[in-house]
Amino acid sequence: MDDRGFDLEGRLHDLEDADLKRTLSPVDRVAERGYFAEPSGGELPVLDSTEALVFASNNYLGLTNDQRIEDAARQAAATVGTGAGASRLVTGDTMVHQDLERQLAETKGTERALAFSSGYAANVGTITALDPDVIFSDEYNHASIIDGCRLTDAETIVYDHCDATSLRTKLERRAAFDDANEESWLIVTDSVFSMDGTVAPMADICDAAEAFGAWVMADEAHATGLYADGGGVVQAEGLGDRVDIQMGTLSKALASQGGYVAGSSDLIECLLNDARPFVFSTGLAPPAAAAASEALHVARHTDVRERLWENVAHLRDGLESMGFTVLGDSQILPVLVGDREDALALADELQDRGVIAPAIRPPTVPERTSRIRIVPIASHEQGDIVKCLEAFRGAGEEIGLL
Ligand SMILES: Cc1ncc(COP(=O)(O)O)c(C=O)c1O
Repeated sequence: MDDRGFDLEGRLHDLEDADLKRTLSPVDRVAERGYFAEPSGGELPVLDSTEALVFASNNYLGLTNDQRIEDAARQAAATVGTGAGASRLVTGDTMVHQDLERQLAETKGTERALAFSSGYAANVGTITALDPDVIFSDEYNHASIIDGCRLTDAETIVYDHCDATSLRTKLERRAAFDDANEESWLIVTDSVFSMDGTVAPMADICDAAEAFGAWVMADEAHATGLYADGGGVVQAEGLGDRVDIQMGTLSKALASQGGYVAGSSDLIECLLNDARPFVFSTGLAPPAAAAASEALHVARHTDVRERLWENVAHLRDGLESMGFTVLGDSQILPVLVGDREDALALADELQDRGVIAPAIRPPTVPERTSRIRIVPIASHEQGDIVKCLEAFRGAGEEIGLL
């Protein structure tokens, strides 16, 4: 009998040949520094003997090992339970979920919010539940948005990255096919793009949407907790009443796990009935919900955001004055290298100097734009930023980039 199974070995070889095979390199803890291990396959990993500075995490506010947040998670585990035990719609809805959602809605200035078990689930669940006829999507949107679009019957029209003029042109062209105004249209964009550090022109996107009656959905995964009063770009730009759907994750600045959607009461009622990843998945674990609530509180009411933005300014200035090109205009600092081999060599040299910051290369980014994606976090000390800059100088000189 012929084998009807799967040629996994062949697939892995293909990935290796194309230099696309990924590996897992564990670290002892999630913080601004840690001991990493080489990829070990299924074997027990062996941690390095020296500590590295981490400049590649989305733990932007450095809250993953903050005492207040640990205590909140511990207390929720002890008093509510370690897991939700069922879908929120069955018996998995708890007071910590309700508390988190109330705080998210307050931060985002919306009537209500709904927590999902991941940001990925929130995007896929929301887009599929809305079930638009046409989706207008930024060309660099996150994979979870792309997958949400693929799972609907919608026609997805991709516009140029962060280009509201390109969006308008696509809206105009589509409107010519729909003169009876019968289609439902959704414009969806990341607010901060994680590989480019760019910020979407949200006000211009809202102008374009309003001119054509479309709804706007903003993915604030890389913005939540970092901007005005602990909100995202939507709050920083005062667009709360113009963006219909604000989505985000609890797993980056909020130091936890999970995702959320904030919007009108009707939106939330529809999602909790129709978003399949919400309905048919166990509720967010109570310790994760409690940790995210506490982190949101810290983001809103302390100086932690200021510390992040000071580190961002210091690092950007230092890199630019050395002669590196730093892209974007957010806390994410992609250092443009160009050639993929140079980017890999730079990442290796940085690692040798105790700095972890990976090379991002095609197909994740376009050809000839390989880069090092570097992100400071609020808990890096000034000395850590200086060490990172020294590592860039040494590594850049070593491979002839400076
Ligand atoms: C823009 C964006 N949206 C959504 C997600 C998914 O969030 P989560 O990691 O919580 O599933 C991510 C994270 O990787 C992201 O970068």
